[in-house]
Amino acid sequence: STTPVKVAVTGAAGNIGYSLLFRIASGALLGPDTPVELRLLEVTPALKALEGVVMELDDCAFPLLAGIETGDDAETIFDGVNAALLVGAMPRKDGMDRADLLAANGKIFTGQGAALNKSAADDVKILVTGNPANTNALIAMTNAPDIPRERFNALTRLDHNRAKGQLAKKLAVSVEEIKGLAIWGNHDDSMYPDLYNTTVGGKVAADLVDEAWIKDEYIPKVAGRGGAIIKARGASSAASAASATIDHMHDWVLGSDEIVSMSVPSDGSYGVPEGIISSFPCRVSNGSYEIVQGIELNDFSRERIMASAARLQGERDQVKELGLI
Ligand code: NAI
Repeated sequence: STTPVKVAVTGAAGNIGYSLLFRIASGALLGPDTPVELRLLEVTPALKALEGVVMELDDCAFPLLAGIETGDDAETIFDGVNAALLVGAMPRKDGMDRADLLAANGKIFTGQGAALNKSAADDVKILVTGNPANTNALIAMTNAPDIPRERFNALTRLDHNRAKGQLAKKLAVSVEEIKGLAIWGNHDDSMYPDLYNTTVGGKVAADLVDEAWIKDEYIPKVAGRGGAIIKARGASSAASAASATIDHMHDWVLGSDEIVSMSVPSDGSYGVPEGIISSFPCRVSNGSYEIVQGIELNDFSRERIMASAARLQGERDQVKELGLI
């Protein structure tokens, strides 16, 4: 179709935004035939910097970029949006603990959830990248009672891509040979990549490596990748986070032949309690997803998945206490 799709990005003047916007405008999000209108939300003090980013978008002369609107009012920016990428959040500052972060960022997502509820298009899909992503998505969802719950997702695709990349490296294979790999749980260091249901060239991945490698090297490496990048780069992962954000929304809208990792509202599958937004292996087609059913989980996997779900329940209880949901 030639009607532009309205794509909102929050935190558009931030690090991830600086990579994300150009990829969206070049067609990586919705394909080469779909024009996009960007709706960019920032806090007031960042609007000036955002102006500079918009100048650069103009200077790329992207054929698919049908328009850009910027502003600091969520309801105005979200008006009629079909996709919302909620990236903007406060980074943890010195002396802040997780509870402080949940409180500070939680408030952002009560307001943005309510604004989406009022002004987004009926078909809106919402993906939260800003941390703590899963619980922020839960807050936005709870504050948007008129939007179907399944439209709220959080990003664990970066963990998924990291898990794929590290396994491909270990086995010296192309990432394309890896099938069925998925992240379970929360986007934090408790996330669980299940190699027992992953295949590489048709063989079970866990059979191709030592169990000790999985437990002592692989999982900690995937979980600690963000920190390793900060150490090396002096700044947090932004291009890879933007790329994963694109991958998730692209597949949600356009489908994928592969199993993908998406943090979605739990329906109780695999004993993950309802009332949290947790990562599952999902299949996507025709603009919707389903949690893959019938996967056999061994005791180790089950234990790790339940531990990560417990983290999410803890975060949920905390934001409930704060009155955010
Ligand atoms: P950044 O600090 O460079 O940019 C964040 C931007 O959000 C800033 O420009 C800020 O002004 C804006 N912002 C803050 N409050 C806002 C609000 N209420 N409305 C609109 N904009 C607002 O941070 P960066 O590197 O772009 O990361 C953004 C978020 O993504 C962080 O929370 C980070 O932890 C998270 N992240 C998540 C990953 C994931 O896999 N789920 C991976 C990497 C980062």
